[in-house]
Amino acid sequence: MTTQLSYIHRFEPGGAPARPPLLLLHGTGGDEEDLLPLGREVAPSASLLSPRGNVLEGAMPRFFRRIGEGRFDEDDVRRRANELADFIGEARRTYRIAAPVALGYSNGANIAAAVLLLRPEALIGAILLRAMAPLADPPKSHLSGVPVLILSGLNDPIVPASSAKELARSLSAAGARVAHETAPAGHGLTQADVMRAKEYYTEEFMRSDGQHQ
Ligand code: MLT
Repeated sequence: MTTQLSYIHRFEPGGAPARPPLLLLHGTGGDEEDLLPLGREVAPSASLLSPRGNVLEGAMPRFFRRIGEGRFDEDDVRRRANELADFIGEARRTYRIAAPVALGYSNGANIAAAVLLLRPEALIGAILLRAMAPLADPPKSHLSGVPVLILSGLNDPIVPASSAKELARSLSAAGARVAHETAPAGHGLTQADVMRAKEYYTEEFMRSDGQHQ
């Protein structure tokens, strides 16, 4: 059940209205198929919306342009974060789903962070795996009480610890309820990340009354 929208994407309807949908955002070189198994594991029976990044670096899809490793084209970050937030609205109307929780890895986590900072109404929360700060000077946004989990790797050669801390700081300053945890891992995901993401989704986003909007 996937309709043509502004991003190439996959949509898997879920069977449980009490579980907010997951917006799955892949890393550099991934595509819309990559995180579906992770999404099914983290939030069984939730709807899954999984777009493919609409920027190409060589043959590798990404969610925004970069100038080099860890050096972002911030005009493009802003433009693409707005495009992605518009896509979320389009998909919500088409598939009749509630506002999603973003589950992003690496470049996908970075665009999710940019959406939180630039278009806070688009998401009800986020799980950011190996994320860094996407904007040097983020706008003053309002994320009062929005739950955000950042999972960093102690030995991550791509994400400087200072950048992950800076992201946690700016999301907290915007009012988000941020949990920033660092595990003995590199840039790749581990089974511990999957288990923690699942636990966090269950604790923060699953309600028995199905009242998520
Ligand atoms: C990015 O470019 O968003 C980050 O450096 C992570 C990556 O995709 O390699």
